[in-house]
Amino acid sequence: MKANGEKISMLTAYDYTMAKIVDSGGVDVILVGDSASNVMAGHETTLPITLDQMIYHASSVVRAAERSLVVVDLPFGSYQSDPKEALRSAIRIMKESGGHSVKLEGGREVKESIKRILHAGIPVMGHLGLTPQSIYKFGTYTVRAKEEAEAEKLIEDALLLEKWGCFALVLEKVPAALAEKVASQLSIPVIGIGAGAGVDGQVLVSHDMFGMTHEFNPRFLRRYLNLYEEMGDAVSSYVKDVKAKDFPNENEQY
Ligand code: KIV
Ligand code: NA
Repeated sequence: MKANGEKISMLTAYDYTMAKIVDSGGVDVILVGDSASNVMAGHETTLPITLDQMIYHASSVVRAAERSLVVVDLPFGSYQSDPKEALRSAIRIMKESGGHSVKLEGGREVKESIKRILHAGIPVMGHLGLTPQSIYKFGTYTVRAKEEAEAEKLIEDALLLEKWGCFALVLEKVPAALAEKVASQLSIPVIGIGAGAGVDGQVLVSHDMFGMTHEFNPRFLRRYLNLYEEMGDAVSSYVKDVKAKDFPNENEQY
């Protein structure tokens, strides 16, 4: 698709019902993101989610995906300590969820883990820029790689990920000009989130895109629906109907 100049669309899903909607809507790639830690479990960061929990989410998504490529995040702690553990974690995801590939955060720091997983025949998607598993190192969720040194390191890491054999790369919250430069230097697709229009594809968290979340308002987010309000209104109507003895009516009972 990159070679043909066709942009790649990616959305997250963590469960069967959402994955059905996203898959049948025609998205190219479904990401079972560790953002499930925030969106599904209500944690402040992505750090607490476990490998078992990611496998549960991923297996639910895989059962719904008929045409999309399913990418599953390796959660924090499942690949950083040593390459053997990284491979074991990736194998568990592939065997127990049926996902098609894994994603992990970082460049040269996780070189050996990436290579091990790739050698086992498991496709790996990289993730550079704002890498939320390192939030306590960064301190904030603001744009990364605005400074020359960090931008240069990011470009080098992107080139390394391609060289090692990663099939694609997510760039999160970096200046659009830098992201465009990375995409033009790589032959593998670069999927952006908050990385501008000069990359090869876009990813959003589906709950944000549908407007189911409402406190999260980054500049890069485009909301296609306002489901937080619409679903809240539906709940109010239901409560009102139950209280008023309007629901169920004669046709809604046995
Ligand atoms: O976990 C996630 O949702 C992600 C995307 C934001 C790229 O990694
Ligand atoms: Na993630």
